[in-house]
Amino acid sequence: MAHQVAGYSAMAKTYHWIVAILVFIMVPMGLVMTDLGPGALQNTLYFYHKSIGILLFLLIVLRLLQHWITPAPPPPASLSPALRIVSRSVHGLLYLVLIVNPILGWIGLSLYGAPIPFFGLFDLPSLVPQDRPNAEGILDFHATVGVVFAWLIALHVLGAFYHWLIAKDGIIERMTTAPYQKPKN
Ligand code: HEM
Ligand code: HEM
Repeated sequence: MAHQVAGYSAMAKTYHWIVAILVFIMVPMGLVMTDLGPGALQNTLYFYHKSIGILLFLLIVLRLLQHWITPAPPPPASLSPALRIVSRSVHGLLYLVLIVNPILGWIGLSLYGAPIPFFGLFDLPSLVPQDRPNAEGILDFHATVGVVFAWLIALHVLGAFYHWLIAKDGIIERMTTAPYQKPKN
Protein backbone atom coordinates (compact mmCIF):
# COMPACT_ATOMS: atom_id res chain seq x y z
CA MET A 1 0.00 0.00 0.00
CA ALA A 2 1.50 3.33 -1.06
CA HIS A 3 -0.17 5.43 1.65
CA GLN A 4 -1.11 4.84 5.25
CA VAL A 5 -4.81 5.74 5.26
CA ALA A 6 -7.61 5.23 7.76
CA GLY A 7 -10.19 2.74 6.51
CA TYR A 8 -13.92 2.23 7.04
CA SER A 9 -14.99 -0.54 9.46
CA ALA A 10 -15.36 -4.08 8.08
CA MET A 11 -19.17 -3.78 8.44
CA ALA A 12 -19.22 -0.44 6.58
CA LYS A 13 -17.16 -1.97 3.75
CA THR A 14 -19.47 -4.99 3.57
CA TYR A 15 -22.58 -2.77 3.36
CA HIS A 16 -20.91 -0.52 0.76
CA TRP A 17 -20.04 -3.35 -1.63
CA ILE A 18 -23.33 -5.23 -1.23
CA VAL A 19 -25.27 -1.99 -1.84
CA ALA A 20 -23.04 -1.13 -4.83
CA ILE A 21 -23.71 -4.54 -6.48
CA LEU A 22 -27.47 -4.29 -5.85
CA VAL A 23 -27.61 -0.72 -7.24
CA PHE A 24 -25.71 -1.79 -10.35
CA ILE A 25 -28.47 -4.37 -10.90
CA MET A 26 -31.42 -2.10 -9.97
CA VAL A 27 -30.91 0.89 -12.28
CA PRO A 28 -30.46 -1.04 -15.58
CA MET A 29 -33.28 -3.38 -14.50
CA GLY A 30 -35.59 -0.39 -14.00
CA LEU A 31 -34.70 1.01 -17.43
CA VAL A 32 -35.10 -2.33 -19.27
CA MET A 33 -38.33 -3.42 -17.58
CA THR A 34 -40.14 -0.17 -18.43
CA ASP A 35 -39.05 -0.49 -22.09
CA LEU A 36 -40.25 -4.08 -22.55
CA GLY A 37 -43.72 -4.98 -23.71
CA PRO A 38 -46.04 -6.83 -21.31
CA GLY A 39 -45.10 -10.48 -20.79
CA ALA A 40 -43.42 -13.00 -18.52
CA LEU A 41 -39.96 -11.34 -18.68
CA GLN A 42 -41.38 -7.93 -17.77
CA ASN A 43 -43.30 -9.42 -14.84
CA THR A 44 -40.16 -11.18 -13.56
CA LEU A 45 -38.09 -7.98 -13.79
CA TYR A 46 -40.79 -5.98 -11.95
CA PHE A 47 -40.92 -8.68 -9.27
CA TYR A 48 -37.15 -8.52 -8.67
CA HIS A 49 -36.95 -4.71 -9.02
CA LYS A 50 -39.53 -4.31 -6.23
CA SER A 51 -38.04 -7.05 -4.00
CA ILE A 52 -34.41 -5.93 -4.37
CA GLY A 53 -35.49 -2.28 -3.96
CA ILE A 54 -37.14 -3.05 -0.60
CA LEU A 55 -34.08 -5.09 0.45
CA LEU A 56 -31.88 -2.10 -0.43
CA PHE A 57 -34.08 0.17 1.65
CA LEU A 58 -33.68 -2.15 4.68
CA LEU A 59 -29.92 -2.38 4.14
CA ILE A 60 -29.58 1.40 3.99
CA VAL A 61 -31.57 1.92 7.20
CA LEU A 62 -29.26 -0.63 8.91
CA ARG A 63 -26.21 0.98 7.30
CA LEU A 64 -27.16 4.43 8.64
CA LEU A 65 -27.66 2.99 12.15
CA GLN A 66 -24.29 1.29 11.86
CA HIS A 67 -22.74 4.59 10.68
CA TRP A 68 -23.84 6.08 13.98
CA ILE A 69 -22.28 3.22 16.02
CA THR A 70 -18.99 3.11 14.05
CA PRO A 71 -18.55 6.59 12.53
CA ALA A 72 -16.66 7.08 9.25
CA PRO A 73 -12.87 7.32 9.63
CA PRO A 74 -11.29 10.80 9.72
CA PRO A 75 -11.08 12.39 6.25
CA PRO A 76 -7.81 11.78 4.42
CA ALA A 77 -5.26 14.58 4.93
CA SER A 78 -4.51 14.57 1.17
CA LEU A 79 -8.02 15.84 0.34
CA SER A 80 -8.46 19.62 -0.08
CA PRO A 81 -11.29 21.28 1.94
CA ALA A 82 -13.22 21.88 -1.32
CA LEU A 83 -12.99 18.20 -2.37
CA ARG A 84 -14.02 17.17 1.14
CA ILE A 85 -17.22 19.18 0.74
CA VAL A 86 -17.85 17.73 -2.75
CA SER A 87 -17.33 14.13 -1.65
CA ARG A 88 -19.42 14.54 1.52
CA SER A 89 -22.22 16.13 -0.52
CA VAL A 90 -22.20 13.33 -3.11
CA HIS A 91 -22.22 10.67 -0.37
CA GLY A 92 -25.06 12.49 1.43
CA LEU A 93 -27.09 12.68 -1.78
CA LEU A 94 -26.47 8.98 -2.50
CA TYR A 95 -27.84 8.07 0.95
CA LEU A 96 -30.79 10.43 0.49
CA VAL A 97 -31.79 8.82 -2.82
CA LEU A 98 -31.25 5.32 -1.43
CA ILE A 99 -33.82 6.16 1.28
CA VAL A 100 -36.27 8.31 -0.69
CA ASN A 101 -36.49 6.40 -3.98
CA PRO A 102 -37.64 3.04 -2.58
CA ILE A 103 -40.28 4.94 -0.54
CA LEU A 104 -41.46 6.73 -3.72
CA GLY A 105 -41.72 3.34 -5.51
CA TRP A 106 -43.65 1.91 -2.55
CA ILE A 107 -46.05 4.91 -2.39
CA GLY A 108 -46.53 4.88 -6.19
CA LEU A 109 -47.47 1.21 -6.24
CA SER A 110 -49.75 1.66 -3.20
CA LEU A 111 -51.60 4.48 -5.07
CA TYR A 112 -51.83 2.23 -8.13
CA GLY A 113 -53.17 -0.66 -6.05
CA ALA A 114 -50.48 -3.08 -7.29
CA PRO A 115 -48.90 -5.74 -5.06
CA ILE A 116 -45.42 -5.11 -3.60
CA PRO A 117 -43.88 -8.57 -3.24
CA PHE A 118 -40.75 -9.32 -1.22
CA PHE A 119 -39.11 -12.29 -2.97
CA GLY A 120 -42.38 -14.25 -2.85
CA LEU A 121 -42.18 -14.46 0.97
CA PHE A 122 -44.90 -11.88 1.67
CA ASP A 123 -46.41 -8.70 0.21
CA LEU A 124 -45.73 -5.33 1.79
CA PRO A 125 -48.75 -3.38 3.07
CA SER A 126 -50.00 -0.35 1.12
CA LEU A 127 -48.64 2.91 2.52
CA VAL A 128 -51.59 4.99 1.26
CA PRO A 129 -55.10 4.23 -0.05
CA GLN A 130 -55.53 3.44 -3.76
CA ASP A 131 -55.77 6.56 -5.96
CA ARG A 132 -54.79 5.61 -9.53
CA PRO A 133 -54.87 9.10 -11.10
CA ASN A 134 -52.03 10.14 -8.78
CA ALA A 135 -49.99 6.94 -9.09
CA GLU A 136 -48.52 7.82 -12.47
CA GLY A 137 -47.03 11.14 -11.32
CA ILE A 138 -45.29 9.52 -8.33
CA LEU A 139 -43.96 6.60 -10.39
CA ASP A 140 -42.70 9.00 -13.09
CA PHE A 141 -40.95 10.99 -10.38
CA HIS A 142 -39.44 7.73 -9.00
CA ALA A 143 -38.15 6.92 -12.50
CA THR A 144 -36.63 10.41 -12.94
CA VAL A 145 -34.94 10.26 -9.53
CA GLY A 146 -33.62 6.79 -10.53
CA VAL A 147 -32.01 8.23 -13.67
CA VAL A 148 -30.52 11.26 -11.83
CA PHE A 149 -29.21 8.73 -9.30
CA ALA A 150 -27.37 6.89 -12.10
CA TRP A 151 -25.52 10.14 -12.95
CA LEU A 152 -24.63 10.72 -9.30
CA ILE A 153 -23.23 7.19 -9.10
CA ALA A 154 -21.22 7.81 -12.28
CA LEU A 155 -19.74 10.92 -10.62
CA HIS A 156 -18.93 8.93 -7.46
CA VAL A 157 -17.34 6.02 -9.38
CA LEU A 158 -15.38 8.42 -11.60
CA GLY A 159 -14.08 10.14 -8.45
CA ALA A 160 -13.11 6.77 -6.94
CA PHE A 161 -11.26 5.75 -10.14
CA TYR A 162 -9.50 9.12 -10.28
CA HIS A 163 -8.17 8.60 -6.73
CA TRP A 164 -7.25 4.99 -7.49
CA LEU A 165 -5.54 5.30 -10.87
CA ILE A 166 -4.43 8.94 -11.21
CA ALA A 167 -4.04 10.58 -7.78
CA LYS A 168 -2.97 7.24 -6.20
CA ASP A 169 -3.63 8.81 -2.78
CA GLY A 170 -4.92 5.68 -1.04
CA ILE A 171 -8.60 6.71 -0.94
CA ILE A 172 -9.72 3.50 -2.65
CA GLU A 173 -8.02 1.57 0.19
CA ARG A 174 -10.35 3.31 2.66
CA MET A 175 -13.18 1.16 1.26
CA THR A 176 -11.03 -1.96 0.63
CA THR A 177 -7.92 -2.96 2.57
CA ALA A 178 -7.14 -0.12 5.03
CA PRO A 179 -7.89 -0.99 8.71
CA TYR A 180 -10.59 0.93 10.58
CA GLN A 181 -9.70 4.05 12.50
CA LYS A 182 -12.17 5.96 14.69
CA PRO A 183 -12.41 9.73 14.13
CA LYS A 184 -10.91 11.75 17.04
CA ASN A 185 -14.06 13.52 18.34
C1 HEM B 1 -17.10 0.72 -8.76
C2 HEM B 1 -17.93 1.20 -7.86
C3 HEM B 1 -17.56 1.95 -6.62
C4 HEM B 1 -16.33 2.31 -6.10
C5 HEM B 1 -14.94 2.00 -6.67
C6 HEM B 1 -16.57 3.03 -4.85
C7 HEM B 1 -15.60 3.52 -4.01
C8 HEM B 1 -15.81 4.19 -2.83
C9 HEM B 1 -14.77 4.68 -1.94
C10 HEM B 1 -13.27 4.52 -2.16
C11 HEM B 1 -15.37 5.29 -0.87
C12 HEM B 1 -14.68 5.97 0.31
C13 HEM B 1 -14.61 7.44 0.07
C14 HEM B 1 -13.97 8.20 1.21
O1 HEM B 1 -13.15 7.64 1.89
O2 HEM B 1 -14.31 9.36 1.42
C15 HEM B 1 -16.81 5.21 -1.09
C16 HEM B 1 -17.77 5.74 -0.24
C17 HEM B 1 -19.13 5.66 -0.47
N1 HEM B 1 -19.76 5.03 -1.52
FE1 HEM B 1 -18.85 4.09 -3.08
N2 HEM B 1 -17.94 3.13 -4.65
C18 HEM B 1 -18.57 2.49 -5.71
C19 HEM B 1 -19.93 2.35 -5.90
C20 HEM B 1 -20.89 2.89 -5.06
C21 HEM B 1 -22.33 2.78 -5.28
C22 HEM B 1 -23.01 2.09 -6.47
C23 HEM B 1 -22.92 3.41 -4.23
C24 HEM B 1 -24.39 3.56 -3.95
C25 HEM B 1 -25.22 4.16 -4.60
C26 HEM B 1 -21.89 3.95 -3.38
C27 HEM B 1 -22.11 4.70 -2.23
C28 HEM B 1 -21.12 5.21 -1.39
C29 HEM B 1 -21.38 5.99 -0.20
C30 HEM B 1 -22.76 6.40 0.32
C31 HEM B 1 -20.14 6.27 0.38
C32 HEM B 1 -19.86 7.05 1.68
C33 HEM B 1 -19.62 6.09 2.76
C34 HEM B 1 -19.88 6.70 4.13
O3 HEM B 1 -19.28 7.71 4.48
O4 HEM B 1 -20.73 6.11 4.81
N3 HEM B 1 -20.66 3.60 -3.90
N4 HEM B 1 -17.04 4.53 -2.29
C1 HEM C 1 -32.81 2.37 -4.62
C2 HEM C 1 -33.80 1.70 -5.11
C3 HEM C 1 -34.38 1.91 -6.48
C4 HEM C 1 -33.83 2.44 -7.62
C5 HEM C 1 -32.42 2.96 -7.81
C6 HEM C 1 -34.85 2.39 -8.64
C7 HEM C 1 -34.68 2.85 -9.94
C8 HEM C 1 -35.64 2.79 -10.94
C9 HEM C 1 -35.45 3.18 -12.32
C10 HEM C 1 -34.13 3.72 -12.90
C11 HEM C 1 -36.62 2.98 -12.96
C12 HEM C 1 -36.94 3.18 -14.45
C13 HEM C 1 -36.86 4.56 -14.96
C14 HEM C 1 -37.47 4.76 -16.33
O1 HEM C 1 -38.59 4.32 -16.58
O2 HEM C 1 -36.81 5.39 -17.14
C15 HEM C 1 -37.58 2.47 -12.01
C16 HEM C 1 -38.89 2.15 -12.30
C17 HEM C 1 -39.77 1.60 -11.39
N1 HEM C 1 -39.51 1.27 -10.08
FE1 HEM C 1 -37.76 1.55 -9.11
N2 HEM C 1 -36.00 1.85 -8.11
C18 HEM C 1 -35.76 1.53 -6.79
C19 HEM C 1 -36.62 0.96 -5.89
C20 HEM C 1 -37.94 0.60 -6.17
C21 HEM C 1 -38.88 0.02 -5.22
C22 HEM C 1 -38.56 -0.31 -3.76
C23 HEM C 1 -40.06 -0.15 -5.89
C24 HEM C 1 -41.39 -0.69 -5.38
C25 HEM C 1 -41.63 -1.15 -4.19
C26 HEM C 1 -39.89 0.31 -7.25
C27 HEM C 1 -40.85 0.29 -8.23
C28 HEM C 1 -40.68 0.74 -9.52
C29 HEM C 1 -41.73 0.73 -10.53
C30 HEM C 1 -43.18 0.24 -10.35
C31 HEM C 1 -41.17 1.28 -11.70
C32 HEM C 1 -41.86 1.51 -13.04
C33 HEM C 1 -42.37 2.92 -13.08
C34 HEM C 1 -43.17 3.19 -14.33
O3 HEM C 1 -43.73 2.27 -14.88
O4 HEM C 1 -43.18 4.37 -14.71
N3 HEM C 1 -38.57 0.75 -7.39
N4 HEM C 1 -36.95 2.37 -10.79
